[in-house]
Amino acid sequence: MIVIIDFGSQFNQLIARRVRECRVYCQIEPPTVTVEEIRSLAPEGIILSGGPASIYEEKSPRVNPGIFDLGIPVLGICYGMHFMVDALGGKVKKAEKREYGFAALSAKAEKDLFTGIGKETVTWMSHGDSIESLPKGFSITATTANTPVAAMANHQKRFYGVQFHPEVEHTVKGRKIIRNFLFDICGCKASWTMKSFARDTISQIRETVGDKKVILGLSGGVDSSVTALLIHRAIGKHLTCIFVDNGLLRKYEAAQLKLKLKSHLDINIRFVNAASRFIKALSGVSDPERKRKIIGKIFMDVFEAEAMKIKDADFLAQGTLYPDIIESQSAFGGPTSVIKSHHNVGGLPKKMKLKLVEPLKYLFKDEVRKLGKALGLDEDLVWRQPFPGPGLAIRVIGEITKKRLDVLRNVDAVLQEEIRAAGYYRKLWQSFAVLLPIKSVGIMGDGRTYENIVAIRAVTSKDAMTADWAKLPHKLLGTISNRIINEVRGVNRVVYDISSKPPSTIEWE
Ligand code: XMP
Repeated sequence: MIVIIDFGSQFNQLIARRVRECRVYCQIEPPTVTVEEIRSLAPEGIILSGGPASIYEEKSPRVNPGIFDLGIPVLGICYGMHFMVDALGGKVKKAEKREYGFAALSAKAEKDLFTGIGKETVTWMSHGDSIESLPKGFSITATTANTPVAAMANHQKRFYGVQFHPEVEHTVKGRKIIRNFLFDICGCKASWTMKSFARDTISQIRETVGDKKVILGLSGGVDSSVTALLIHRAIGKHLTCIFVDNGLLRKYEAAQLKLKLKSHLDINIRFVNAASRFIKALSGVSDPERKRKIIGKIFMDVFEAEAMKIKDADFLAQGTLYPDIIESQSAFGGPTSVIKSHHNVGGLPKKMKLKLVEPLKYLFKDEVRKLGKALGLDEDLVWRQPFPGPGLAIRVIGEITKKRLDVLRNVDAVLQEEIRAAGYYRKLWQSFAVLLPIKSVGIMGDGRTYENIVAIRAVTSKDAMTADWAKLPHKLLGTISNRIINEVRGVNRVVYDISSKPPSTIEWE
């Protein structure tokens, strides 16, 4: 495995993805990780990430330089290279010219990192600092027009630094450079598969949990379903899942999920119907954050009351994914600013003093899907699009009433049907409808109408951090719009949302 030290670069997840695409396992650690902790992970190599700081600033993030005595290869990227230079006795200064964007890289020789990439290759740079003097034992291995030390190496110690970002797509031979580091330099084997991950994780869960009991909040989404499967394989009936129907699900969803989960997962599941409680508490509430808070609070109350009925539970399982963890451990002062109070299921039932089990916390969404498949999870569950905890409450913009929820449910059902029929369901990260709080004039038959507007949102994304609006065919959009206006009472206009994230978000609230 490879340890990646997180100096705060926005590309850290990409580094991890590139390494895992090579079927080598990796973990991102904060700079506060100790040398002992790294040693206990027994990595074949370390990658020091980029970051927004300058190494000569007083509060720049640093990892214990003892990592250079572990006897394993280290690759420093951008700020990571500057840290390496500084820690080993060289000097970094402010660059005369900031370098941002594409740069043609000339490698001195096609070896080590640069094996098989050709003498000149296009790389992508983003930095304002450069190296003034190299530490002892290092030599320059590549240059660009503006950067005399675009890459450096100490071959004997197997320490390497690159000023450019091999992890981004714009660096044409970036994948090859990372492969060279992993396989030629570190001697990693491409042996990480979902089957091996499942095997290791199941035995780890058994070890951690022993003969104690585990509770899991099941939402029917792929993350919690895969978490349930893994834990069930590890401890069988000692796992109890709780499914809370909050009345904010899609049409038929609660009933379908109930059937699917029950028949497919031979697991203890308790279904709690709390719909009326949620709807009552939300009545008259328009503010999105208040909606979320109310839903989060009731969910916790309902969940806790149900969990309290399970005697001797010691653990709470959660389907937390890697992007959540990375965001909250970022090198620069923890969680980024709260844009929306997501993941309201985060808190533990307080009275119960449960310990956490999070078997997916090192996986990305697409890896969770692969894992679900490897575990034999129903295809329908594996490929379910993400659905937010507060459900349709944040898609009925403005005031929530049972009637408005039903209008949205009917619209959404038509949309889902058409998206699936056109073969788009799996290609889209999410597709859904939003009910707007304004009305518009229309004409139906001979009469004037004054009815609701719905917006259709369909996006492509890898991890929801960024997203693009989907370029759905006009014909499909036309069919969706016709069917909605003809079939759903109370709607006379359909619009398509053509905004990307950022600057918009995926959900409207
Ligand atoms: P945004 O709207 O921030 O959403 O671009 C990113 C992803 O998160 C989902 N989402 C939520 N999930 N509770 C959740 O469990 C929430 O409160 C929540 N808000 C947004 C959203 O559907 C998208 O996949």
